[in-house]
Amino acid sequence: MLGEGFLLKQRNLTVESGHIWREQRRFAFRVFRDLGFGKQVMEESIKDEIGYLLNEIEKNNENPINMHELLMPSVSNNICSLIFGHRYDYNDPIRKRLNILFPRILELLEVSSVSTFLPFVYKAMQLFGSSRMTELMSLLHEFESIVEKEVEIHQKDARNDVNDYIDAFLREMHEREKLNKDMGSFSFQRLYSNSKGFFIAGSFTTRNTLDWILKLIAAYPDVQKCVHDEIDAVIGHNRLPAWSDRQLMPYTQAVIMESQRWCCVVPLNIPRRAMNDTTISGKFIPKDTEIVVNFWSVFHDETIFENPDTFDPQRFLSNDGRELKKVEELIPFSYGKRACVGEILAKMELFLYFTSIMQKYKILFPEGVQVSFESTLGINLQPIQEPVLKIVNRY
Ligand code: HEM
Repeated sequence: MLGEGFLLKQRNLTVESGHIWREQRRFAFRVFRDLGFGKQVMEESIKDEIGYLLNEIEKNNENPINMHELLMPSVSNNICSLIFGHRYDYNDPIRKRLNILFPRILELLEVSSVSTFLPFVYKAMQLFGSSRMTELMSLLHEFESIVEKEVEIHQKDARNDVNDYIDAFLREMHEREKLNKDMGSFSFQRLYSNSKGFFIAGSFTTRNTLDWILKLIAAYPDVQKCVHDEIDAVIGHNRLPAWSDRQLMPYTQAVIMESQRWCCVVPLNIPRRAMNDTTISGKFIPKDTEIVVNFWSVFHDETIFENPDTFDPQRFLSNDGRELKKVEELIPFSYGKRACVGEILAKMELFLYFTSIMQKYKILFPEGVQVSFESTLGINLQPIQEPVLKIVNRY
């Protein structure tokens, strides 16, 4: 867990520790499993959302299009379905407002991430009234009121069936009250902050990874051709890609894995704290030491990944290209008890978005564009140059 820094003040699952974290994590896992994580129902919901995205691409008539902007509402609508039980239409005023709120929150978190590591920076920013911190607080507050409204609507509906995370949380609170049980860590405030946490943890990471994948695929036409060939052989053109197709598509999976390694959207993990004295690889770590895992150094370690700066999906394939190699050092979703709660959702999204776009289109950079792969580090590593791409029909 974190020290006294900025993110801790948010009090959501990503930054909690001890019994509160354990209780909330177990609960989230159970709810997501019951809602169909990794199953057909989730797959269908993601496919519906992808349908809207493909319509937008189609409307654009092969003109250069900023996929970063288009992916924002699409990917975050998947979290809306999970937490609120519904998506927002692209023209819905709340969707439009969230599209502005999210990137700005991300931008502001870039600066406040310093305060995540250095608690005194956070305190100083509060004390001297940093304007960025004030704006961040106000945007997070606005975001929270959108979540609060959703909770109110759920309460008024008083549904018996559980369709989403809010339903499940309200039911848990209701049952504990009815049975006069200890409320534990369940409260409205926890519901609001966990919901916000899922949006922040689950929208930017997936969207940024897709940004990178699309840029990389435009930059490597040979790789793109192999993906097209595999899609044509396994899926064809007459039906949409399905999650189960991945089992017959090692090359496409290797491209996604290599993109996750190469771009490493979470280069530095959320700071955690050693709960006890411990020793790792002979190094003594005293209790309460803050530990930040550096995923970037693992994914770009040349003793593990030869020529780490080269984008090469083959590294994850057997010599004959038919099988995927399991490389245990590739851990974009982290490892162990705190590993990403949304891993299965994210993997499904990455595979279905990527294959659905590639099935229909060729991805190119617009003519005359000076392509840059430079990145900037906020809470995620994202391309400085957004993926403005020419998306051309294949047939
Ligand atoms: C490509 C997409 C994603 C990547 C690369 C990613 C990566 C990560 C990483 C590295 C962590 C930190 C784990 C640790 O501290 O050891 C994490 C935690 C978390 N992620 Fe993700 N994530 C992704 C998508 C998602 C999605 C879609 C959700 C939505 C449900 C989500 C929800 C969470 C939550 C709630 C945590 C905190 C878990 C805990 O502290 O117990 N993530 N993620």
